[in-house]
Amino acid sequence: MKVDGIAYRTIWLDEDGWSVRIIDQTKLPHRFVVTRLTSLAEAAHAIRAMLVRGAPLIGATAAYGLALALRADPSDAGLETAAATLMATRPTAVNLRWGIERVRARVQPLAPAERAAAAYDEAAVIADEDAAICRSIGEHGAALIRAAAERKGPGEPVNILTHCNAGWLATVDWGTALAPVFVAFEQGIPLHVWVDETRPRNQGASLTAWELVKHGVPHTVIADNAGGHLMQHGRVDLCIVGTDRTTADGDVCNKIGTYLKALAAHDNGVPFYVALPSPTIDWRIHDGVREIPIEERDGREVSELTGLTGDGRIETIRVTPDGSPVANPAFDVTPARYVTALITERGVCAASPGGLLALFPERAAVG
Ligand code: MRU
Repeated sequence: MKVDGIAYRTIWLDEDGWSVRIIDQTKLPHRFVVTRLTSLAEAAHAIRAMLVRGAPLIGATAAYGLALALRADPSDAGLETAAATLMATRPTAVNLRWGIERVRARVQPLAPAERAAAAYDEAAVIADEDAAICRSIGEHGAALIRAAAERKGPGEPVNILTHCNAGWLATVDWGTALAPVFVAFEQGIPLHVWVDETRPRNQGASLTAWELVKHGVPHTVIADNAGGHLMQHGRVDLCIVGTDRTTADGDVCNKIGTYLKALAAHDNGVPFYVALPSPTIDWRIHDGVREIPIEERDGREVSELTGLTGDGRIETIRVTPDGSPVANPAFDVTPARYVTALITERGVCAASPGGLLALFPERAAVG
């Protein structure tokens, strides 16, 4: 995607051929900063501290993190330590495990001297695949937006509500939930996006809004609690969100607050779509509420706010009184019954075991 006329992905190999470049998302929307990862420790920090975030990008960063680690120590012990270090960074997005396992499977059979080069190669393949998958999600999802536009009539914008950031910053390119928006916008379909601010870290207000500004897509940032009201008054035609882990039965884990939007959509007859690349499906589990580990993050994300001051400084202030305890579960699970359909790289399907297996029949044997 382009930022001020320059095409970027969210992660790429530096010109030196070994270090890795990322966009530091903690600085957005106020500063666009590209930073360099040179070690396993830096890659793990980038994931844990959310310089990179979003399930697919976490997976790609972990893959490059293993490559950086193997460059320093390609032994079996080095590989295992690096995999464990990266696995411990964030618990919810299954793409992390997927990315690590994919690189591990590629390098384990090789002699230590060959491992780093193979890991870099696999990480690059993962990144390229993610970009292609997300573009394809965009095509399938845009067809749903087009259908909504046809129902509304000429010139009437389709109002799409999204939560968190599932745009190109959350993936290698294009995004998941925002890919249909970008493709539909490219195709000239009139649309407008309601952007949930997404407290506590404000991925909607900071990142989704920034992406939409950069691409000229009409949008409005709303407080997280506004969505239900807008749906009751017919001002949302469809919701599209991303996911950090979706079970084989179609339960969807995504940023905290997604479940409440799905409930409001259900009550108001608003279609609720979830866009996901297949590496986000955890085929081993079925019941998302009981089986998906939910990340509990630092309470200061709730008790504090960070933003730009009038004189251009980035500052953090506290919004809770001294002595108030805070809790910060970062994700929730929307049961499949509230999901109208899943938008994948292979097409749109029901959020159900049958729906998923119809698109991914090769997974039937996995159990
Ligand atoms: O905590 P984050 O910012 O990593 O959470 C990201 C989300 O919840 C996204 O909606 C999800 O990863 C889907 S992104 C393609």
